[in-house]
Amino acid sequence: MEHNSTSYQDRIKDFDWSISEKELGYKRGDVLNIGWYCSDRICQMGKADKLALVWENSAGEERKFTYNDVRRTSNSIGAYLRSLGIKDGDRVCLFMDKIPELYIGFLGVLKIGAIAQPLFSAFGDESLFVRLKDAGTRAIITQRKHVSKVRKILAQLPSLERIIVVDHDGKKPLQEKEVAFSIYDGKGVESLDIFPTTAESPSVLHYTSGTTGQPKGVKHVHYSLISQYLTAKWVLDLKDSDIYWCTADPGWVTGTSYGIIAPFALGVTQCVQDVGFSAEGWYKFIEKCKVTVWYSAPTAIRSLMKAGDEAVKKYNMSSLRHLCSVGEPLNSEAVIWSERVFGLPFHDTYWQTETGSIMITNLPGMKVKPGSMGRAFPGITATVLDIHTSEPITSPGKVGLIAIKPGWPSMMRAYWNNEHAYKGKFKNNWYLPGDRSSIDSDGYFWFAGRDDDIINTGGHLVSPFEVESALLEHESVAESAVVAKPDQINMEVVKAFVSLKPGFNPSGDLELEIMNFIRKKLSPLAMPQEIEYVKSLPKTRSGKIMRRLLRAKEWGQEIGDTSTLEDDE
Ligand code: WT7
Repeated sequence: MEHNSTSYQDRIKDFDWSISEKELGYKRGDVLNIGWYCSDRICQMGKADKLALVWENSAGEERKFTYNDVRRTSNSIGAYLRSLGIKDGDRVCLFMDKIPELYIGFLGVLKIGAIAQPLFSAFGDESLFVRLKDAGTRAIITQRKHVSKVRKILAQLPSLERIIVVDHDGKKPLQEKEVAFSIYDGKGVESLDIFPTTAESPSVLHYTSGTTGQPKGVKHVHYSLISQYLTAKWVLDLKDSDIYWCTADPGWVTGTSYGIIAPFALGVTQCVQDVGFSAEGWYKFIEKCKVTVWYSAPTAIRSLMKAGDEAVKKYNMSSLRHLCSVGEPLNSEAVIWSERVFGLPFHDTYWQTETGSIMITNLPGMKVKPGSMGRAFPGITATVLDIHTSEPITSPGKVGLIAIKPGWPSMMRAYWNNEHAYKGKFKNNWYLPGDRSSIDSDGYFWFAGRDDDIINTGGHLVSPFEVESALLEHESVAESAVVAKPDQINMEVVKAFVSLKPGFNPSGDLELEIMNFIRKKLSPLAMPQEIEYVKSLPKTRSGKIMRRLLRAKEWGQEIGDTSTLEDDE
């Protein structure tokens, strides 16, 4: 099949988001509900019997859902939540592995006007607690295997009224506030009064890491659909006949914007694998499902490269026609490798939780420059600002802060209960994502790193502050500093410098114990891959730990003038 060959110049000429509104049949002021657009509308367009979701797990179980199944099942989840007293504006957390209930439940929550709060199921009780507490979450939909984490924190969460277990087997009794609900009981609900949300009604609350404080809830609205639909159509190049695979978990924004909302709103068939990573497992899945469009991430691509070309050759990859990547810098080697083994380059896409949709990218048909993120999506005005003066940089190749003119449909509307942090993201009417880049003379962006201490491990952001706070809760830890350390596959991993309290001695056993403590409390991603014991930590005159000094050492960089590091803190 041919790519959309429309050129970049044609796309940006007279661009207006109304292109997307028209295709969706949406008029300003109308009711706009993502849940309806992703299921009912597709059925009304005559695609009720088309496969929406093909799912498999590690036990080899497979389940298939047509658009009509998705419509009825999301109706039944919505109706059930309503019967529990959940109403519009309430936060409903989805805390599940990549099971069908997560994808369909997300739409059910939106259909009743409630706010979907997806959280990564590998989060430990502390990570979960902080996010549920901040959001004042009223209900959580989860699985048996995760319910113990909820029980542990329930007493400290007075707003949390209901815990809905989707796979209760009747063996162990349910406890306080817990109820059982299965999408496989009965045939689903034929019709549901969909709550009349409009463009600015809140839809999704995703938590993202901050450098200096607790995670921030990024509030999105139903109007985000306008961006998500068109970027998926033009960047992912999704067409009616495609079989699409987005490898991201809906605990993170890629997994909702492009793993639920966009593909379903486009009426595409998507495949989901609820299985841990293995190169051959992935190739087998592509072959079996005949995946045509694949959206993945650099860490996964580097892991595939490591598994070698022989592994690819065992499988039939000829169904693939378009590849995209997101989440971290896509190194040029990965693009060159994918051209060699799949005959297709990975197209980089740059965006973040706050932007809700792709901002900078390589559109199909555009010349891919390996190592560059591509150009601004049509309708997006992006530049780089001088780090000192905050003025737009006009000379090609000079690194500055990425800046985007606010106003695209899927921009976050707020950080939940944190106006101060929200305001801090803007300067001179530009939105600053917090990344550095240069722009070449063709308008291509070349990523140059983050502008803060956040660690990007395998495409997942980890806050050094959260890890340091958790470390302090371990009985042996007096002080700690957490920084990124280079890693061949994950690009960065978490490293902790720790000084111990009197009476504790540095040892390998203690290192393992502390690592495990963080894994359980926060998540496997946040777990330090290395702990270095130190007597004391470098500090500024005002007593703040100089993470940047420690980080520079890890990366073998010149430390230079430490007085500027102190000023920066
Ligand atoms: C941060 C956003 C967008 C969905 C997944 C992550 C980094 C993202 C790229 C890219 C280099 C990238 C940035 C960004 N990032 N895409 N193509 N090249 N870096 O969402 O968790 O909000 O993280 O990920 O630093 O700000 P997120």
